[in-house]
Amino acid sequence: MKKNQTDIKTKSFYIETYGCQMNFADSEIVNAILLEKGMNPVSDAKLADIILVNTCSIRENAETKVWNRLKEFRGFKAQNKSLTVGVLGCMAERIKDQIIEEEQLVDIVVGPDAYRDIPRLIEEVEDGRKAVNVLLSLEETYADIAPIRTTGNGVSAFVSIMRGCDNMCSFCVVPFTRGRERSRPLESILNEIQQLSDQGYKEVTLLGQNVNSYKDRSYSFSTLMDKASLVDPEMRFRFSSPHPKDFPDELLHLIAEKPNLCNYIHIPAQAGSDSMLERMRRPYTRDQYLQLIEKMKGIIPGLSLSTDIIAGFCGETEEEHQQTLSLMREVEYDLAYMFAYSERERTLAYRKFEDDVPEEVKKRRLSEIISQQMSIQHRRNHDEIGQRHVVLVEGTSKRSEQQMSGRTDTNKIAVFDRKEFEKGDYVEVEITEATSATLIAKPIARTSLGAYYSAILEA
Ligand code: SAH
Ligand code: SF4
Ligand code: F3S
Repeated sequence: MKKNQTDIKTKSFYIETYGCQMNFADSEIVNAILLEKGMNPVSDAKLADIILVNTCSIRENAETKVWNRLKEFRGFKAQNKSLTVGVLGCMAERIKDQIIEEEQLVDIVVGPDAYRDIPRLIEEVEDGRKAVNVLLSLEETYADIAPIRTTGNGVSAFVSIMRGCDNMCSFCVVPFTRGRERSRPLESILNEIQQLSDQGYKEVTLLGQNVNSYKDRSYSFSTLMDKASLVDPEMRFRFSSPHPKDFPDELLHLIAEKPNLCNYIHIPAQAGSDSMLERMRRPYTRDQYLQLIEKMKGIIPGLSLSTDIIAGFCGETEEEHQQTLSLMREVEYDLAYMFAYSERERTLAYRKFEDDVPEEVKKRRLSEIISQQMSIQHRRNHDEIGQRHVVLVEGTSKRSEQQMSGRTDTNKIAVFDRKEFEKGDYVEVEITEATSATLIAKPIARTSLGAYYSAILEA
């Protein structure tokens, strides 16, 4: 150990996470790495010796939020000279020079594949130097690290099954921030699921940027889902996100057959016209996408669907925008994540196309997309009134301690009277009211997946 250097064990750390679920899952890995070194986690940034911000680059406003937060943390440095601030995640590579040299905001920069190096980098900054590791890897999956989940609800967990993305959609920065696609070994995923089951978790969402291209030796994503569902029949499984280009039929049949594979699929469309899909480098046509949706609905009764949509991508005409709206009407998604296009450096669109849809047009189109979707959701949720669902209780509702809140198998939030129910229970409910975002329900009884679905089969 060098002069002036304090033992890393005596240090406290605080992690703040932005971006997608994969980033949240990564923060749990970083948590495990630092705890293993004996460091002490704190839940208030003001109390930390080391603040780590796990960042997102997906859109301009995601980055702006992080920049603002880093400026606040610079303020903390005035009070605490020995404070170390680190940037993790997707912003790391792109702005490493800027962050360190110009802004003087940050001491450590670590890319998504270099988290094992964080303890060493922390020791390096002790010398007063800046520490950077943004190397991307072809192999790193953190398979041997058991994530430590400190912020979740203790009922539902995310498990990364792969990293990176090779798809190169023309608008998207992820392949540049997270590198090449690689899959985590099947056994390590199943072991983690077993541990979660032992700890009392009831729901697992398997995560990757393109889960249906999961491949470990001869094991496909369908094999993985099948094996996962057998680990614990009372644990529910979801996944995010599959790509419409190669969605396996086999998986649809598995979802239809197995009570613990949820009847919910997030299937990003991005746009509704062939011309736009082509510019976006999404390798499917509108018709192919709609045929896939028809097949999904045909095989899985009561299926709930969600999607991602981008408004105002390069060159988008009014006609193309109308086609996105009409696609959304045709599918009738239960939920949609809708964004205005935000140009990202290094992407194909940045190099090849012009970001030429004026800001106010993007905004107007996005608000048309959102308001149409809200009315579809409102109607679809209203159709639920009188229907029964099994809800996995996640905790008390945000509005009232006397109400419990959870999700249906179809991923809709349902709220009902607390009664004797507890977090982690499966409760059969009947829907009594609905808004575009929430179902209000009357609880019938505590149940189990096995009991509920065998009763349905017998009926
Ligand atoms: N891998 C996932 C998507 C991850 S990013 C998938 O393909 O399904 C989540 C969503 O952000 C994308 O589906 C897209 O709708 C949106 N997005 C990505 N890049 C964007 C950009 N430059 N501007 C606006 N939205 C973007
Ligand atoms: Fe981005 Fe496309 Fe990969 Fe999704 S599939 S992360 S949108 S490049
Ligand atoms: Fe953002 Fe990186 Fe996820 S850019 S959306 S945190 S993969």
